[in-house]
Amino acid sequence: MSGKEKASIGVIGGSGLYDPEIFSNTKEIKVYTPYGEPSDLITLGTLEGKQVAFIPRHGRKHRIPPHKINYRANVWALKELGVKWVISVSAVGSLNLKYKPGDFVIPDQFIDMTKGRQYTFYDGPVVAHVSMAEPFCNSLRKVIIQSSKKLNITAHEKGTYICIEGPRFSTRSESVVWKDVFKADVIGMTLVPEVNLACEAEMCYSTIAMITDYDVFADIPVTAEEVTKVMAENTEKAKALLRETIKSLPDAPDERECSCCHSLKTALI
Ligand code: ADE
Repeated sequence: MSGKEKASIGVIGGSGLYDPEIFSNTKEIKVYTPYGEPSDLITLGTLEGKQVAFIPRHGRKHRIPPHKINYRANVWALKELGVKWVISVSAVGSLNLKYKPGDFVIPDQFIDMTKGRQYTFYDGPVVAHVSMAEPFCNSLRKVIIQSSKKLNITAHEKGTYICIEGPRFSTRSESVVWKDVFKADVIGMTLVPEVNLACEAEMCYSTIAMITDYDVFADIPVTAEEVTKVMAENTEKAKALLRETIKSLPDAPDERECSCCHSLKTALI
């Protein structure tokens, strides 16, 4: 990578969004990190006149399962490229009957039920405890929510995302606990530690959670065809939403008003 390659916006693509076809003037680059290899080459391109860096979280052709993703390398690589805003896209199940397959959710909270991942850039001897009271960038969430309204996309403005270790799905008992005891709204396998690493890197981070199914608590049989159809529709809507969001982000990333860019100032180090 040469020092010239920069982007202020990063997009982390998830299930269903592997391919950077929405960007123009693209170029693929390999980024080296102290944590090893990111999930794939990073595509640098433009969208709505802005420089964007795109990385498919699972790698092309979905090679990497959620628990094997090198989250630190992915986030580090985006930081290295100068990214200030990270928009992540992920497929989730619903734990809330009002949040339907095909709807989007812009979560404002998460619950971490993962078990064995590399959670921090501060592995010692420097130790940092960043605040996770508000884990997502509220300014970025607002831009995504306003963009979805403009496009008439149903996007729930709040929600708690529970992140499980995977790769297996939940048992019915687990699913009922996530819903009734933990009060989570959506469930997925990839938010953590991506979200908290972005915070340690002082980047604004928000996720577009695209609902593909009701989780197993609901005991609603779904066919593979139904899930595939919803995923295909979600992908088209996600591309439109990314375009509108990127268009609406301020041109001057250094004028961010949120506290994400100062998360280390308030961390216990
Ligand atoms: N991703 C999509 N649907 C899911 C579910 N029901 N549980 C966990 N991750 C998911």
